Amino acid sequence: MGTLLSLFGLSSNDNRIDEATGLTDRQKKLVQNTWAPLRKDEVASGVAVMTAFFKKYPEYQRYFTAFMDTPLNELPANKRFQAHCASIIVALNTVIDSLHDPGLMEASLIGLAERHKKRGQTKEEFENLKEVVLDVLRQALGRQYTPEVAEAWSKTLNAAFTKIYEVLAS
Ligand code: HEM
Repeated sequence: MGTLLSLFGLSSNDNRIDEATGLTDRQKKLVQNTWAPLRKDEVASGVAVMTAFFKKYPEYQRYFTAFMDTPLNELPANKRFQAHCASIIVALNTVIDSLHDPGLMEASLIGLAERHKKRGQTKEEFENLKEVVLDVLRQALGRQYTPEVAEAWSKTLNAAFTKIYEVLAS
């Protein structure tokens, strides 16, 4: 049966829910497939996220000493900004690549959260960034951002950010 289903790109495990993430295998695949085009250009995708973030929350730009005084319209061409943007996408790549191994995913999130906690970042700031990431995904994917894809992404980011919040609160 598994072999027959796999001929159609499905697997008999596709609807099994992974207790650690709350995601089905199908949802994990949807997230990985829809992330693929965005990760291809780490700078452009990161710039889309960070410029949308600063546009909505201009007060956050002051946390970034390397480009705190750069006008918003000059940021996309700023190499220090581009480098930071790419590093955010690389960090998200690590999360998405480890969806099959929740322990590994948790370990990378703990490291990320600890570094941000030391710098004083808050749950509210992360929650705001999460919404911006979902907005950017919706815009970038267009018609591919179906309700099913939206749910898969929302669940993935909720699972990841819940781990981050645990560290911030500890
Ligand atoms: C999914 C969420 C996030 C990811 C993946 C992410 C990723 C990163 C990465 C990879 C770095 C560089 C390495 C490090 O120090 O950890 C970094 C640095 C930093 N992040 Fe984040 N970040 C996230 C959320 C946030 C939020 C919500 C804020 C604040 C509004 C923030 C503020 C900063 C600051 C101030 C730095 C230091 C920049 C510098 O080098 O001066 N980050 N982030």
